[in-house]
Amino acid sequence: MAYLKAEELRPGMRLKSDFINEGGTLFLAEGTTLTSNMIERIKDLNIPYLSIVTDTDVKERPSRNKTAYAVKTEQFLKVYNESNKVIKELFDSVQSGRMLNLDGIRETVSVFIDLINDDENIVPKLQQIHITDEYTYYHSINVSLLAILMGKWLKMPERDLRKLGYTGVFHDIGKCRVPPEILNKPDNLDEREWNIMKQHPIYGYNILKKNNILSNDVLMGALMHHEREDGSGYPLGLKGEKIHTYGKIVAVADIFDAMMSDRVYRKKRPPFKVAEYISDRSFDSLDPYISRVFLQGISRFFVGNIVRLSDGRIGKVIYIYPQQPTKPVVLAGGEFLDFSKESDITIVEIIG
Ligand SMILES: [Fe+2]
Repeated sequence: MAYLKAEELRPGMRLKSDFINEGGTLFLAEGTTLTSNMIERIKDLNIPYLSIVTDTDVKERPSRNKTAYAVKTEQFLKVYNESNKVIKELFDSVQSGRMLNLDGIRETVSVFIDLINDDENIVPKLQQIHITDEYTYYHSINVSLLAILMGKWLKMPERDLRKLGYTGVFHDIGKCRVPPEILNKPDNLDEREWNIMKQHPIYGYNILKKNNILSNDVLMGALMHHEREDGSGYPLGLKGEKIHTYGKIVAVADIFDAMMSDRVYRKKRPPFKVAEYISDRSFDSLDPYISRVFLQGISRFFVGNIVRLSDGRIGKVIYIYPQQPTKPVVLAGGEFLDFSKESDITIVEIIG
């Protein structure tokens, strides 16, 4: 590895490690190959020096990072599949009228917290999971993981992370009481069906209350995950501070995961579109602070991603503005495209 000043940089050199600016934002990702345009930008920004890959690095450690990432992904998928069985058992016991047993899920939530403490970059791993059926189980795992991650970004103590993990797992447990023909209906629900569906947070609260094994915070989070800041949510139509913080956190995690997943009735949406939707909703129905912390946290990991643009070009995300996490700077064909200003082109999907 060599540390080089901006004037020593040449096109074709590769970054040895992430460059993070003073505001804590990732500006250039590890592995980025520098172009002359990028070097000009680096000079403009007065970046003092960058670490560059040398021939020795390549010979000594050919694919160390890729291997470490692959191992982490493998561990993640193993935990994910095992937790799916635990959650299926929980839902089965509710459906057959048995009491809930927390033994398995206690261990599962501990493993979720360890996974996130080890590597916060879980979204690309979640995107590798292709759901064929049993959406509710997968969705419960994803919301649990995302809620723990958000709790961490909100600097909550470990006991809150654990309770948020449970809230994610159990937030839709009330769907066990919704008739399957309504729950799995591929078309729009009629008014009667929708009124039944809107009861699932109350059904869930009652199930958890009856079992009496989880704290009141978890029950409130599950009850309020469809409440909205402006009172437009259900089942109670609560507003702002009347909504439990866990309900607000799970609301964002729930929307993010639902929009990122393929469903019978629609295809998943690209992450930037989902982030933009959450950003728009943070002005009316979602908690603005929680949404912003989530979007800033999630978008840090978009730097380095390869994206397809609406004009057919392929580009690489090289910068995320801390205040505008849904509008990145993309390098495509040697040209910098700043999506905070760009209006004709959009990012269609992340492809790598
Ligand atoms: Fe729900």
